[in-house]
Amino acid sequence: MIKKYSIKELLNKWDFFLNKKVLVEGWIRSFRYSIFIILNDGSTINNLQIVLSKNFDKTILEKITIGTSIKAIGIITKSIGKKQLIELKSSDITIYGVTNSKDIQKSILQPKKHSLEKLREQAHLRFRTTIFSCVMRVRNHLSFSIHKYFQDHGFFYLHTPIITTSNCEGSGKMFQVTTLVNKVDDTKDFFKCKTYLSVSGQLEAETACMGLGKVYTFGPVFRAENSNTSRHLSEFWMIEPEIAFYRLKENMDLAEDFLKSIIKYILKNSIEDLLFLNEHSWSNCNKKIYLIDKLKTILKYPFKRISYTKVITILSNEEKKRNIKFSHPIIWGMDLQSEHEQYLVDNYFKTPVIVFDYPSHIKAFYMRINEDRKTVKAMDILFPGIGEIVGGSEREERYEILLERIKEAKIDEKKLWWYLETRIFGTVPHSGFGLGFDRLVQFITGMHNIRDVIPFPRTPNHAEF
Ligand code: 4AD
Ligand code: MG
Repeated sequence: MIKKYSIKELLNKWDFFLNKKVLVEGWIRSFRYSIFIILNDGSTINNLQIVLSKNFDKTILEKITIGTSIKAIGIITKSIGKKQLIELKSSDITIYGVTNSKDIQKSILQPKKHSLEKLREQAHLRFRTTIFSCVMRVRNHLSFSIHKYFQDHGFFYLHTPIITTSNCEGSGKMFQVTTLVNKVDDTKDFFKCKTYLSVSGQLEAETACMGLGKVYTFGPVFRAENSNTSRHLSEFWMIEPEIAFYRLKENMDLAEDFLKSIIKYILKNSIEDLLFLNEHSWSNCNKKIYLIDKLKTILKYPFKRISYTKVITILSNEEKKRNIKFSHPIIWGMDLQSEHEQYLVDNYFKTPVIVFDYPSHIKAFYMRINEDRKTVKAMDILFPGIGEIVGGSEREERYEILLERIKEAKIDEKKLWWYLETRIFGTVPHSGFGLGFDRLVQFITGMHNIRDVIPFPRTPNHAEF
């Protein structure tokens, strides 16, 4: 039996395979002069050139078109062409699925430049394009590196429920889950109460860390916000570590080390795909910053850490000094808008920024109140070109204060009895954060729109595929 190899395996160990007979499978990217097939199988950005033998079977030759899937058996030889080191000399091609050249013309598989919007309309086919397959391979390596980081640091991977009755972030923007056709009585519903798709696994992760010490979640979360921006999805993936006996400063240290470690990992393990994306970001970027340089710069310096109150002072001074006008007026107590975050990161500090100690009334109920009683131990990490990539905090571990905050937020405390109870059975200081995975992939691949870094994006009015 002739052994099957991926193109990645063949190219990585090309000298080992020289003069050996192998079997490869893939999709045809191009076909020239009736002898050269360019094949890709998704294992790598690189293609394999297949050289057909002379007098090749005409009935098969007719079916060799762009997009067609094939099996090829042949001998690996050194290539005379400059574009590739090796090629496959083959006289044995099996066609799996023919692609008709008329159909190709309507599809994004037609070899010409298509817009990313066009690719999105054919999301089921875009895995075959060079750019999207690069992004998907990087996304895969990032997922792996995240698990690796936490596993190497003594964290346990926790699966939190997707269906929930509680609203962790306190906003009303949740998708309701029901089996009732005409919703009249919630007690007749499947769970005998109102249930929703979870916006975060944090509350459950907090209970788990008070037993396991260090945990992390990595799963999908759902938000019914009507935000049609290049950074918002209705269904996105979040990583939420939660650590017992951790204060805010340790939380910030962890988040910074974690982000830098995974960027280091990806620079090492996804370099071929990043090099391609580097060129793409170059052609798309008016500021002319290479993607790889941008990633390397993140590793060089410590993230700037600054309190919310100082940020307000900086922004209002900048307005006066530089004669700039933000569309949202700068007053203490306001939520930072993306224009402010962008100014701070891209113009003022020119490095990632960790903003901490936000006013309590703009943050969730579970964040620990500071002694000033006005601010909470929150921290957001803001990244160049992205804005908020991480949101986290030290949690309120004192029962009475937490109960007061829950009531202030007008949340039914009876629904959170289990959460509150962790504060009466050996409560401890603890902290955690949430990293928006898709925003991270966006940052690392340099893609402008978050819809181009997830296989099948869910956004307002869009749930196709
Ligand atoms: O700041 P958020 O809302 O924090 C939480 O959910 C906390 N429970 C996390 C924690 O402390 N365990 O969301 C965390 C991150 C944001 O910083 C952002 O990167 C991402 O999730 N995010 C989104 N990403 C894509 N689409 C959306 N609609 C997002 N909303 C938040
Ligand atoms: Mg946030």
